[in-house]
Amino acid sequence: MERGAVVTTRSRIAGELERSRRRVHALTDCADEELLKQHSPLMSPLVWDLAHVGSQEELWLVRDVGGMEALRPEIDRLYDAFEHSRSARPSLPLLAPDESRAYLDEVRAKALDVLDRVPLEGSPLLRNGFAFGMIVQHEQQHAETMLATHQLRAGEPVLHAEPLDPAVLRTGVAALPREVHVPAGTFTMGSSVEPWALDNERPAHEVHVPGYWIDTVPVSNAAFAHFVEDGGYDRADRWSAAGWAHRREARLSAPRFWRREGGSWWRTRFGVVEPVPDDEPVQHVSYYEAEAYARWAGRRLPTEAEWEKAARWDPATGRSRRYPWGDEEPAARHANLGGAALRPAPVGSYPDGTSPLGVRQLMGDVWEWTSSGFHPYPGFCAFPYREYSQVFLGGDYKVLRGGSWATDAAACRGTFRNWDHPVRRQIFTGFRTARDGERD
Ligand code: AVJ
Ligand code: FE
Repeated sequence: MERGAVVTTRSRIAGELERSRRRVHALTDCADEELLKQHSPLMSPLVWDLAHVGSQEELWLVRDVGGMEALRPEIDRLYDAFEHSRSARPSLPLLAPDESRAYLDEVRAKALDVLDRVPLEGSPLLRNGFAFGMIVQHEQQHAETMLATHQLRAGEPVLHAEPLDPAVLRTGVAALPREVHVPAGTFTMGSSVEPWALDNERPAHEVHVPGYWIDTVPVSNAAFAHFVEDGGYDRADRWSAAGWAHRREARLSAPRFWRREGGSWWRTRFGVVEPVPDDEPVQHVSYYEAEAYARWAGRRLPTEAEWEKAARWDPATGRSRRYPWGDEEPAARHANLGGAALRPAPVGSYPDGTSPLGVRQLMGDVWEWTSSGFHPYPGFCAFPYREYSQVFLGGDYKVLRGGSWATDAAACRGTFRNWDHPVRRQIFTGFRTARDGERD
């Protein structure tokens, strides 16, 4: 059972478009050289992401919804993610940084004209401003990707963090149980009413989940270091066959960006070398590392349905919430989202973001690996384009849930599904563990 849709106004949409644009400009407010360089073969040059968000906005808001002519048809293919691999992008005749910014401004002016004149109802593309919401989310997703590029970049820092509010950090952590029980039963997974839910989150459907236990908070750096120091990376029996093959080939020995020196762990974070903080959720681990840790701990990763039930199911009403804390939009007191902190908050933070069953930090901080592959829900319909979800369904991907500190609130909710290859570590991913069982 789900609650009805919320109203989406033109001014709210314009505000969201403006907010994502400010963020993209801030993430590209550096020397041209930094924008043109490929910091890692895994990532596009930042200037590609910059013009790509404009290109996507032009395609959907200006041309499709607005019915207007192409502004620069000759650049379409340059910014089509399926045309050129990331590693081929630096050698393309891309728009220069200033040309890209001018292109973005031009597209945005037209998109705002379209927003003024189209009805926000009728077709599924227009209803509740869905096309605009899709473009806001796309731009925010690329902002997160740009942060991953910044994290891979070498040299002096160019980004500067804003501190987290001390009032939300590790509140009442000593009294938290280690794990929470979720009773067996059916809950509503996905959504048919969430206005900006993307195709892969739809439709709402009932799923029966056997009883299980799930960690109250994500796995911390201290806990993960314990696994490393206990020889976690040296013993094949901790790993799945695919995980062990990858661990050997890639010579993994610790989370990405960690280094052992002088008897302790150090990490590089946006150009700053610092001790690995014990109480932060571990991040930059692959699915295989998460899976190995869970086995070592005598546990397993939660399935996607288990993650979502822990995040949304309210035993008092039997209803699934939009967010763990309820139906209201994320605010600073609920979760570490939006990217300003440049880091996750310590485990046990955000009491106001707790789910009805008492699980913390499901939204924000770190994306959480689940044991589930990326599959369509029953009744899935690719919308409005196959290249968002459809072409990835059933591939070599694992689903990630909950968003990270780098995810914007507009691009995250209880139903949001992200996915990536199980070897990926440059994204802001951690995990929590689970186990089967009834309450003992
Ligand atoms: C849903 C985060 C996996 O970044 O590859 C951006 C989002 N799709 N442009 C990605 C996306 C097209 C996508 N993820
Ligand atoms: Fe994209």
